Amino acid sequence: MSAVTARAHPNIALIKYWGKKDEELILPVAGSLSLTLDAFATTTSVELREGLAEDRLELDGLVRDGEQLARVSAFLDHVRSLAGASGRAVVRSVNEAPTAAGLASSASGFAALAMAASAAYGLDLDARGLSRLARRGSGSAARSLVDGVAVWHAGTDDESSYAEAVPAPPMGMVIATVDGGPKAVSSREAMRRTVQTSPYFSAWVSSTEDYLERMVTACRAGDFTTIGQLTEAHALRMHALIASTEPPIRYLRPRSVEVFDAVAGLREDGVEAWATADAGPNVAVLVQPQGAAETAARLAAIVGVDQVRVVGAGPGAHLLPEGCEVPPAPGTGTQE
Ligand code: DP6
Repeated sequence: MSAVTARAHPNIALIKYWGKKDEELILPVAGSLSLTLDAFATTTSVELREGLAEDRLELDGLVRDGEQLARVSAFLDHVRSLAGASGRAVVRSVNEAPTAAGLASSASGFAALAMAASAAYGLDLDARGLSRLARRGSGSAARSLVDGVAVWHAGTDDESSYAEAVPAPPMGMVIATVDGGPKAVSSREAMRRTVQTSPYFSAWVSSTEDYLERMVTACRAGDFTTIGQLTEAHALRMHALIASTEPPIRYLRPRSVEVFDAVAGLREDGVEAWATADAGPNVAVLVQPQGAAETAARLAAIVGVDQVRVVGAGPGAHLLPEGCEVPPAPGTGTQE
């Protein structure tokens, strides 16, 4: 059988997902809201191949085993159980994000895999079903199924936990890469530690629910200033929460804090820009289209900011036409 290929993009949360109430089903303790980007795509193909004893994973041009293969294979087991199928598959996946951008996220990876694997195994899922399926690979992947701004409803069970689109004003992001090194603690592990040890966890859950409600209202009203205020405040709350774990975890670096300061300076100069950061040191700055160039120039001038990239709102995960293949992995071509 020929391969089915899909493409998905990462998303950056404006209201963060941090903490699960069910680790197996990946049900979050609270809802979240994000912007799907139009850059750093992951392209993934799934090909069912007879006679394979186990699934095969090629990621960024290299055959993978161990934990990476186990996570993909567990996801395919779930797809196979839904489809009543047993055949193994070859999965090829390439990330466009330079590893240093810290954006080679599991969100685009599992969104593309959900799309391609469900089609390869003949599952006929609607948008909600696809989002629920992607969630089982990585929580944030549920949102990368959606174009532009997505709200992920926490839900109470597998059925009710999915993401869908929310109308929002035009906005994009300026991504400032300050440190390309690998994370000291994975977000999955750090989330678990937070739930188990932070004394502030219940306050985080209730404040996230409150912020999410206000954020959805602001998006629908096209109120960019409120969207920005909530985005920056919620990111800082998440980092404060993460710092309150035992032992503590701190993802922001001195340079990250400098970027937050520069963004505050931009606002003083009349540019509406608001900073956020995920479980790492890089900072994503939310802007309106007219503020992107000045924001990028200001951030690029900070010593120690390695790379600045302007990105817009992008499409949710989608299948590529038959015959489209996974591109060569960056760095494996003959040009360099
Ligand atoms: C900080 O979706 O990677 O980016 O569900 O364990 O795979 P798992 O976690 P993941 O966590 C994302 C955390 C975050 C915030 C967010 O994207 O909302």
